[in-house]
Formats: sequence, C-alpha cells, structure tokens
Amino acid sequence: MAVSLDTGSVASAVDGARRGFLERFGGEPAGVWAAPGRVNVIGEHTDYNDGFVLPMAIDRACYAAAAPRADRILRVYAAQLDETVELSLDALVGPGSAADTRDAASTDMSPLAEPAAGGWAGYPVGVAWVLQQAGFPVGGADVYLSSTVPVGSGLSSSAALECATALALAGVSGFELTTHELALHTQRAENIYAGVPCGPLDQMSSAFGQDGSVLFIDTRSGEVRPQPFDLAAEDALLLVIDTRVSHDHGENGYADRRAACERAAEFLGVRALRDIALEDLPEAFAKVSVGLGETYARRLRHVVTEDARVQQFVAILNHEQFSLPPLGHRMMQSHASLRDDYEVSAPELDLAVATAVAAGAHGARMTGGGFGGSAIALVDRAVLEEVRDAVRAAFAEHGYTEPQFFPAVASAGARRIV
Ligand code: GLA
Repeated sequence: MAVSLDTGSVASAVDGARRGFLERFGGEPAGVWAAPGRVNVIGEHTDYNDGFVLPMAIDRACYAAAAPRADRILRVYAAQLDETVELSLDALVGPGSAADTRDAASTDMSPLAEPAAGGWAGYPVGVAWVLQQAGFPVGGADVYLSSTVPVGSGLSSSAALECATALALAGVSGFELTTHELALHTQRAENIYAGVPCGPLDQMSSAFGQDGSVLFIDTRSGEVRPQPFDLAAEDALLLVIDTRVSHDHGENGYADRRAACERAAEFLGVRALRDIALEDLPEAFAKVSVGLGETYARRLRHVVTEDARVQQFVAILNHEQFSLPPLGHRMMQSHASLRDDYEVSAPELDLAVATAVAAGAHGARMTGGGFGGSAIALVDRAVLEEVRDAVRAAFAEHGYTEPQFFPAVASAGARRIV
C-alpha cells in the first residue's frame, strides 16, 4: 500500500536555506548545517532524574545557512517567522557573565545576565553566549535559519534550532565541538539563557541521532548506545500524531514535576530518583506517601517504573524473537503512568492514544514533555489508513483541531550538510 505521507526532503531544504541566505544577506553562505528534532520512543521525564531514555532523531530538522562577518555582529534570521535578531557579541559578555565561575557540569540554572533577546531569539543568542562563556572563539556571523520541525508540537524544535546554530557558529568561526560538547552547551543555553529547566534528552537526541537507530542514553553517565530500530523490516512504522495543542501551556507544570522529583530524591537520601531500584519501590512509595504526600509518591512511581520500561524495551529490541506487541505494551504502560501518576498528559493525547490502539496500533503514547504536543503510535503498515482515519474522526467528533500525521523516520544527528 502506498504511504502518501510527507517525509520532507533534505536536498530541497538545503537549497531553500542557501537561496534564502542569498536573498536575505547577499552572497553565498559558507556552509549549511542541519540539526534534527526528535521523538522519544520511551523514557519520559526520566532525563532530569539521571535515568534512561530511548529517543531517535527524526527527518525534520532546523537548517542553518551561515557565513562569517568581519565584525563582531551576530545577525540571525528566522525564515518561518520572518524576524531578525541582531546584536554585538561583545555586548553579550556583561559583568554578570564575566564573574561566572560555574563549570560546564554545574546544574545551577539561575540566569547569569539579563537575556539580550526573548522569544525564539533567546535560543540562538543563548547558544552564542554559552559558547563564548565556555571559551570558544565565537566570531561575527550571518545565520539564516529555516526549520521543518513543527513548533510547539513536542518534537524539540528548540533543540534543533540550538544545535544547528551552535554547529553553524563553530563552522564559520573555525572551532570544533565534540558531539558531547554540542549537546551539553546547547542544553545549558536552554537552561540558563532561555530559562527552560529541561534535561539533556532533546539536545542529546539532536546531537547524537543516527540513521535507522534509536539511542539508548544513560543520562547519568552520558553513555549513548545506538540501537537498530528497523520497523520497515517488520512492515510497520512509528506514526507521529501532532495534536496541534501547544505544549507551552505546561511550562510551569514541567518545572513543578522536576522540583517534586528533586524533593523526593532528597527526602529518600539519594542523589536522584534513578537510584531507587524497582524492587525497593513499594517501600520508597510508602515512605514518600507518609512524609511528603501521595502526589510525590506517584511522581516517584512514574520515574522508577519508566526507567524499568526503557530497559525492558531495549531488552525486547535485542531479543532474537523481536516482536512488536510487547513494545506496544510498554508504550501503553508508559502512557498510563504519565497520565495517571505523573499527570502530564492532555485530553487530546489520551484520545489519540486510545483511538490509535482501538484502530489496530500495537501501542501508542505521548512523547516529549506532555501537556499537549504529539503522540506516537506503533502501527503495522496494513492498518495505517485505519488508524489515521479513526484518530482524525475522533478529533472531529470531540471538536478538537485536526491533528497532523507523519512517520517518524530514525535519522542522522546534527551535522554539516554542505
Ligand atoms: C521535554 C524536556 C526534556 C525531557 C522531556 C520529558 O522535552 O525538554 O528534557 O524532560 O520533556 O521526557
């Protein structure tokens, strides 16, 4: 059966970025860099608990066409918004930042200096600022950004933008970033400069993505293990269902969840909730219920069981008799735990998941931070049309905005394209 889903095209996106740069800034860019968005297959809200995640980079990316400038000006143009931010790189080094003594591993997320730019511009400007802070010789540059990652859909459009900008700045300024440095500094830019207390999931996915693989990441050690994930060989695919409900609604919810986990870890006397083993969960749950209250205990239960599900999922992938239903089952458990224990789902996500499974998907779950954004469904190609039609019809029946569908194709990570 023909699958008529738009998977985008790298060549035309690169061409568009080059032509856009030419029109905007005059002259040819020195290069074009790309960094993908991601879906997290399983392992949600575990990354800031030192836990396990299993994301993959997707074939939607932010493209950065860039050229160096002789002065110390950074100009960044965002094609989708038709907006430019322009500033002096020297003005980014204020007294607040000069006094900063935090090292790269610091988890202190208080802003060092007043952000010079808010909204989308905070991301590229924050990247330049963090790289400068870390001692990289960032030079003046013109950067044209164009993205095929839908914004607000929980697919890490901001991480894509940050990683593409970081690579472009490194490329035109003549310094190198290791993949770990790329992930670390872009996460810091988001934490400190943009003020979003995210964990390392999104930036690591964009930086380390690999064609045809999911990435098993231990967020404590930083170890990244690519794991082949060939759904085409199973005649299946991972379908993204973008609910079109912006996940930004949940910004406070995200910070609350993170704070609750840190409080529970402190209460239990462990460095992070990752340190609570599955077999110790009943005892820890009871202790936290009494000491901090039942809500904290449910947050704890989500994190501990989710870490276990990631490991089970990977074990199933590695099993000789690999089959899809047990994977789908773990996805369903993950969704229920995020909905009931962690309370970060949304009615649209719950409807997408329930409808997809009722229409024949092996499993489905919300992906990313939640409160809106996207769900993913593990679907045999034979039932793809049914699943899509059923979800579309259910959304119409509930009066929800029409969702968007596209396959998640495990793709390469951030890189120079031309
Ligand atoms: C957002 C954050 C990530 C991660 C997920 C939840 O995407 O940016 O760091 O915490 O939510 O798994």
